[in-house]
Amino acid sequence: MVGGGPLAPLYDEECSVWVPAWEMKWGALVHALGDSPNYEATDAIVATAARRGKRLRGHTLIWHEHLPAGAERLSTRADWERFVAPHVGSVAGRYRDAIFEWDVVNEAIEPNDNGADLMRRSPFYAMLGPDYVSEAFRLAAQAAPAARLYLNDDHVYYAEDWQELRRTGVLRLLERLIAAGVPIHGFGMQCHLDTRRRFDERVFGRFVKQLEGFGLTLAITELDVTEAPDAGNRSVDERRRRAAEEVRKVLAVALDSPALAGVVTWGLSDADSWLRHRSPEMVTNQGLPFDDTYRPTPMRDMLASLFASTRTRHPT
Ligand code: XIL
Repeated sequence: MVGGGPLAPLYDEECSVWVPAWEMKWGALVHALGDSPNYEATDAIVATAARRGKRLRGHTLIWHEHLPAGAERLSTRADWERFVAPHVGSVAGRYRDAIFEWDVVNEAIEPNDNGADLMRRSPFYAMLGPDYVSEAFRLAAQAAPAARLYLNDDHVYYAEDWQELRRTGVLRLLERLIAAGVPIHGFGMQCHLDTRRRFDERVFGRFVKQLEGFGLTLAITELDVTEAPDAGNRSVDERRRRAAEEVRKVLAVALDSPALAGVVTWGLSDADSWLRHRSPEMVTNQGLPFDDTYRPTPMRDMLASLFASTRTRHPT
């Protein structure tokens, strides 16, 4: 994300915050369980960000995807102490002065796993039960006492019932963490938006108010729009306008919240979007602020005008 090429000036001019989309994940740092972490790529990102005057978000300390080989079999407290606790401590500690906020736990909620607590059944859950979340935040706070610590999750914006269940899961988990005095500062909404879903500003607005009620900072952490499976015969221009409109609907509600501290898009140019690799029909997806040739799309203008008319102090 901070290499050369046509993206470099865009990252400089368009962003005040950078996020490594891949390099800080456990499986990117540690190839197989028991190997030492390789910090070459992350050290380089940290150095480049410092040189260019950018703040860095850390993503992510605990996630069930992209684990080191063998980690899917971890299942006991002893495994946690031996492998997970040192991972969290060493990454957060190494970058304690470089990373201003961390997604400590990513995607903890999964109602489809059928737990009464609506939490995802991951190796982390197998090791400590629901307490893995609070343990992870405590370890991160010890290692990086100045960092702002976030729970991060997705699919909590639309009116469909399955998203309502996910909102309930998030709220219950946050309530437990806060009641237990866990050092958590924020909730990150990934905002992988999707033009096929049904948005109701009252439903999302109520959720944002409930989050505000916890006294947490909110952030939009991975904004992009899936539109291709729904594209039909629309022209590319029309598809880009629809993607921008999707962003407007959701962000207008989020930016209205005094708790919202920032907006991060998941990449800048469609040419490099992870969405393009998700399925064959997505190879032409138009879901980011810059197109394949690094020219601004209507989403870029939409974001600029939303930021210009918002109370948020640090849109990124
Ligand atoms: C994606 C990255 O963009 C890809 O490069 C990688 O191969 C897989 O992960 N939610 C998240 C992100 O929290 O970490 C994911 O990022 C996208 C979905």
